[in-house]
Amino acid sequence: SITRHYKFDIKMQNVTRMCRTKSIVTVNGQIPGPRIIAREGDRLLIKVVNHVQYNVTLHWHGIRQLRSGWADGPAYVTQCPIQTGQSYIYNFTVTGQRGTLFWHAHISWLRATLHGPIVILPKKGVSYPFPQPHKEVPIIFGEWWKADTEKIISQALQTGGAPNISDAYTINGHPGLLYNCSAKDTFKLKVKPGKTYLLRLINAALNDELFFSIANHSLTVVEADAVYVKPFKTHIVLITPGQTTNVLLMAKAKAPNSTFLMAARPYATGPASFDNTTTAGILEYDHNPSATNSKSKNKKLPLLKPSLPVFNDTTFATKFVKKIRSLANARFPAKVPKKVDRRFFFTIGLGLLPCSQNKTCQGPNNTMLAASVNNVSFVQPNIALLQSHFLNRSKGVYTTDFPTNPPFKFNYTGTPPSNIMTAKGTKVVVLPFNTSVELVMQDTSIIGAESHPLHLHGFNFVVVGQGFGNFDPKKDPVKFNLVDPAERNTVGVPSGGWVAIRFLADNPGVWFMHCHLEVHTSWGLKMAWVVNDGKRPSQKLPPPPSDLPKC
Ligand code: C2O
Repeated sequence: SITRHYKFDIKMQNVTRMCRTKSIVTVNGQIPGPRIIAREGDRLLIKVVNHVQYNVTLHWHGIRQLRSGWADGPAYVTQCPIQTGQSYIYNFTVTGQRGTLFWHAHISWLRATLHGPIVILPKKGVSYPFPQPHKEVPIIFGEWWKADTEKIISQALQTGGAPNISDAYTINGHPGLLYNCSAKDTFKLKVKPGKTYLLRLINAALNDELFFSIANHSLTVVEADAVYVKPFKTHIVLITPGQTTNVLLMAKAKAPNSTFLMAARPYATGPASFDNTTTAGILEYDHNPSATNSKSKNKKLPLLKPSLPVFNDTTFATKFVKKIRSLANARFPAKVPKKVDRRFFFTIGLGLLPCSQNKTCQGPNNTMLAASVNNVSFVQPNIALLQSHFLNRSKGVYTTDFPTNPPFKFNYTGTPPSNIMTAKGTKVVVLPFNTSVELVMQDTSIIGAESHPLHLHGFNFVVVGQGFGNFDPKKDPVKFNLVDPAERNTVGVPSGGWVAIRFLADNPGVWFMHCHLEVHTSWGLKMAWVVNDGKRPSQKLPPPPSDLPKC
C-alpha cells in the first residue's frame, strides 16, 4: 500500500454549455472534476484549497472511513465548512473496498458542479472476478442548469416552494447531441471490435434517478456501489443519485456499419415536475485501427438509438433492483448480520412546515414544502455534530431522541392523514459500538408516492427485503433474503413501498443518512446516527486533525 497525494483547488471557471457561458465552481477548473485513483489499502491525502466565495466541504461517497470520520465531509455533520481562503487535508485509508465510487461537495447544492470519479483498483496482483477488460471508462451522469444553482435553492428555501428543475442531464459533463447547441461536444466512446470494456457508471445528478442504455448492446452488471455482484445481462441500467454501477460492454466481433447512441433519461415517480429530457453519447467502432482516415469513414454511418422505459416505469425499476445480488461465495462472502440488536421503522417522505408569520409561502395552503424521516425535518446545526459528540458537548447542538418509530399511525401508502405537518429538529440515534441494526424504511406518500434513494455514510448495508404497500412486521421479515442480499450504500425506498436493510455499527463516529435527491436533503430528509466508541483502542475514533476547519 502507498500514500497518494492530490491537490484540489476549488475555483471558479467559465464553462459553455447549450450556447451559454456560465461561471461555475470547479475543482481545478474541470467538470466533471479530477479522477481519484487508488488501490485497496492505499492512504489518500487530498488537500482541498478553497478559492471561491462559498463555504465548501467534500465527501468521498461510499468510502467507509473506518475510524476516519473527520474526513467524511458532510457540512455541519462531520466538519465545519472550509471557508474562503482556507484549506483542509482529507486523510483516509481505503480499507476492504475496491470498485467505483465518487466524490462530491456536501454543502448546499454545490454538488451540481463539484463531483468526480473515485476508482479503487484491487490490490496489486489481484484480479477481478470477471474477465479483465481491455479498457476502463468512467461514465458520470450530471445535471445542468442554465441559471445559478445556489440562487435557485436558496430562493426555494426562502419562499417554501419547489426549486426550478434542471435544463439538461449530462454524460461526462456534456448534454450531448439531443439538446440544442450541444452536438459538437457529445461524449464519444471509441471501441475496438471484439474487445471488452468496463464502464464505471456514476449518477452524480442532483435530483433524478436515471435509466441508461446503449443501442444494440447488452451490458453485464458486475458491481454496484463498489461491491461485486452476481453478473447479469441487461439492456437498461437503473441508477439513482448516489449509486455507482460497473458494467461490462462486449464490443461486437466485427465492426458494424452503424454507430450507436448511449442515452440516459429520468425515472421519476413523484408529484413534482422534473426535467424529462435525454442526455446522449456516441459509441463508435474503430473500423480500421491502422488507417489514419477512419474518422471520415465513420461519419456517414447511420446512428441507432436505444429504447428506454417510460419515465414512471416502476415495474422495470423493481425487476432491475431485485437482480442485484451479492456474490456470496468463498472469496466474497455476503456480510449479513444474522442477529439483530435494534430494530427501527422510519417513514420517509415529503410533508409541510408552517409558513412563518407575516410571510407568504409557495407551498400548498401557504405552507413551506419540507421532507422528513419519522416526521422529523432535520435542521442543520451551527457546529458540526461530530465535534460536539467528540467533546461531549451536545447540549444546544443536538438531542438524542430521534424516534425509533413514526409518531403517528396511518395507512402509509393510502390516503394521506389530516395532519401532514412535520416538526423541525436536530435529533440523532445513539448506538453502542457493534450494534447490529435492522431498519425498515417506508415511503409515506403524504404528498404523493415517490421513490427516495437513501444513502448511509460510514457503512455498507445489506438490502434484505423490499415490497409495495405497507410493511407487515409479521409477514414480511419471514421472506427476508439473508443469503445473497445486495450490499450497498444507497438504496431506493420504492415509490409506495418499503425497503429493509441491515448494518453493523462497527465504525465509531457520526454518520449522516439522507435522501440523495438533493432537493429532499435541502427540505430536511436527513438524520444522523451516532456510533459510540468501543472499549479497545482499535474501536475508538482518534482525535480530530489539527487543520479541521472551525465554525
Ligand atoms: Cu453522496 Cu451524504 O452523500
